[in-house]
Amino acid sequence: MLHDPNRVYVFDTTLRDGEQVPGCQLTTPEKIEIAKELEALGVDIIEAGFPISSPGDFQSVVELSKAVSEPIICALTRANKGDIDAAVAALKFAKRPRIHTGIGSSDMHIKHKFNSTREDILARGVEAVKYAKQFVEDIEFYAEDAGRADIHFLAQMVEAVIAAGATVVNIPDTNGYCLPDQYGSKIKFLKENVKNIDQAIISVHCHNDLGLATANSIAGLQNGARQIEGTINGIGERAGNTSVEEVVMILKTHPILGLHTHINTKNFYEISRMVSSQMRMPVQPNKAIVGSNAFAHSSGIHQDGFLKNRENYEIIRPEDVGFPSASIVLTARSGRHALKFHLERLGFNLSKEELGEAYHRFLTLADSKMDINDEDLLVMMSGALVKN
Ligand code: KIV
Ligand code: ZN
Repeated sequence: MLHDPNRVYVFDTTLRDGEQVPGCQLTTPEKIEIAKELEALGVDIIEAGFPISSPGDFQSVVELSKAVSEPIICALTRANKGDIDAAVAALKFAKRPRIHTGIGSSDMHIKHKFNSTREDILARGVEAVKYAKQFVEDIEFYAEDAGRADIHFLAQMVEAVIAAGATVVNIPDTNGYCLPDQYGSKIKFLKENVKNIDQAIISVHCHNDLGLATANSIAGLQNGARQIEGTINGIGERAGNTSVEEVVMILKTHPILGLHTHINTKNFYEISRMVSSQMRMPVQPNKAIVGSNAFAHSSGIHQDGFLKNRENYEIIRPEDVGFPSASIVLTARSGRHALKFHLERLGFNLSKEELGEAYHRFLTLADSKMDINDEDLLVMMSGALVKN
């Protein structure tokens, strides 16, 4: 099969990295429900869990492998045989299994987490890939804390694990440390300096500690990565992971990048709400793409411009991400145009003078109440004006 060089694979880790958030633990049936929704969304890979971490996580990977058939099902391990054996067993029923194994790559992790040396860590990474490869063809290797790793050592590690059989190499910015041009340059360096790089897909896995996870992921894709790892609503350790919905919509909104995914973007709103309620993690109202205010227009200038032509203030159509509709919120900052729009929707067709008078009363009301709903408007209009 010919590989499409512009296709970006979407690796969802909501059920692994996302589920590591305190208070977000899910039962197996809840995970299955989300996994089915991820399958409908069209993600290419679902990271189902870390089987060695607990019997519950092991069982979830087993049950998800049975419940979902389209995406690749992936299980996380550290670079040791015990973890890999557990992942192999948990993936027994997966139609398309993947093992995601790896080890630290920065000197910080090598010295202060593993109390080891670069040579030893490299050997352990290679050994883990070779061991896993005996059981599963599709092996992804993560070079943890690659964001802070020495680029020459990182390149050496990537080359060695590809030679050992890795099909995907994940370059995580584990601590959300990099700037977009730094992260993009890392990927570019690997593309240009690792001899066998074309035998594997480079994956970007960015954390959001500085609010740069999405920007870094895009920089990685612009420099040759073709898999993006993230979570729904950007949930995850500390400040979270890259938001899958943000990266996918950036690629769709900017065709000039020449990259595309196979995601059914109309499913974003529904899955966002499902993940939020099951994980008891509210979505911030101003969250890009799926926040409740993402398509709400509230100031008079914006409302007027939007009502003249929605594209004045809308770069994504809400229906493209399954959002119910754009909204014109009535507040004390709203103008006449927005009030007219809502009154006409409710059946009031006013003359210019009548609208001026109604607007005056509306402002008095809006100064005393945060936002004005249909009921408020009906009370305000009751008996005062002609209803058509
Ligand atoms: O952030 C990270 O480095 C990870 C790895 C385990 C892939 O989540
Ligand atoms: Zn992570």
